[in-house]
Amino acid sequence: MRIQARCALLILGGTSEGYALADALASRRDLRVISSLAGRTLSPRLPLGETRIGGFGGVAGLRGFLQAERITAVMDATHPFAAAMGTNAAAACGTLDIPLLRLERPPWRPEPGDAWLPVPDWPAAVDALRRLGARRVLLTLGRQELAPFAVLNHVRFLIRCVTPPDPMPPFADAELLLDRGPFGLAAEQALLDRHRIDCILCKNSGGGASAPKLTAARQRGIPVVMRERPPRPVLPTASDVPAALDWLDRVLDARQQTA
Ligand SMILES: NC(=O)c1ccc[n+]([C@@H]2O[C@H](COP(=O)([O-])OP(=O)(O)OC[C@H]3O[C@@H](n4cnc5c(N)ncnc54)[C@H](OP(=O)(O)O)[C@@H]3O)[C@@H](O)[C@H]2O)c1
Repeated sequence: MRIQARCALLILGGTSEGYALADALASRRDLRVISSLAGRTLSPRLPLGETRIGGFGGVAGLRGFLQAERITAVMDATHPFAAAMGTNAAAACGTLDIPLLRLERPPWRPEPGDAWLPVPDWPAAVDALRRLGARRVLLTLGRQELAPFAVLNHVRFLIRCVTPPDPMPPFADAELLLDRGPFGLAAEQALLDRHRIDCILCKNSGGGASAPKLTAARQRGIPVVMRERPPRPVLPTASDVPAALDWLDRVLDARQQTA
């Protein structure tokens, strides 16, 4: 049984991994766990334990929060594309010498039969769609990432996102599909067939919840324009929740030994 004084952990969440960490740590008496959500969703599901919502105010704001709450360790479990938060966390923790772990699900990797075009940014994705001559594209991007594609006047877009874009970019031809994963393979196959999709554009988020569209695309020989992950600071990284919990135990043990 742990005998050390209560430590404080900040989880930067907004992902299934962030919720799973909060679940796993909810019964720990030796630990005060604070989950942080960006506040993008109107009524977000709240993680178990303490929660705070909204930006910290850049690196300086985060540093102030870490000091005020006497945070012992931070787990950055934000989405692989949430690059700003990850960079801020690395800077703030670095200056305060607070251990920081990045919990990041592995990216999807192409399999035999896949026709993926990896792209580093949205302009390159627009070019890729032009080069492919895509006409009926399934876009599975966040609502704030749609605007660059409105220049493609000859494309019919099926836009799948969780929250409606406001405002909707001026697409010549687009249909909005509000839906949230996990998505099953049969449903993804039916969706591609029903809308006669000839290309998918998505981000390499990784994880199982939205991977079936890639299987369905492979089965149908549909190309996938795959936005690669943004660069992140080099940090200790875990690819799943158990590995992240092991890291936390090591950090807390080391702290106890030096106390
Ligand atoms: N990007 C995606 O594709 C995606 C997908 C699913 C879920 N999410 C989740 O949605 C959130 C926002 O994503 P994003 O792409 O907008 O991130 P981002 O570009 O990295 O972050 C922009 C700003 O939002 C605030 N922020 C982000 N995550 C936060 C958190 N967990 N707690 C408190 N403030 C946070 C920070 O504001 P301050 O500088 O003011 O501190 C940050 O500088 C993340 O928590 C992420 O895990 C993102």
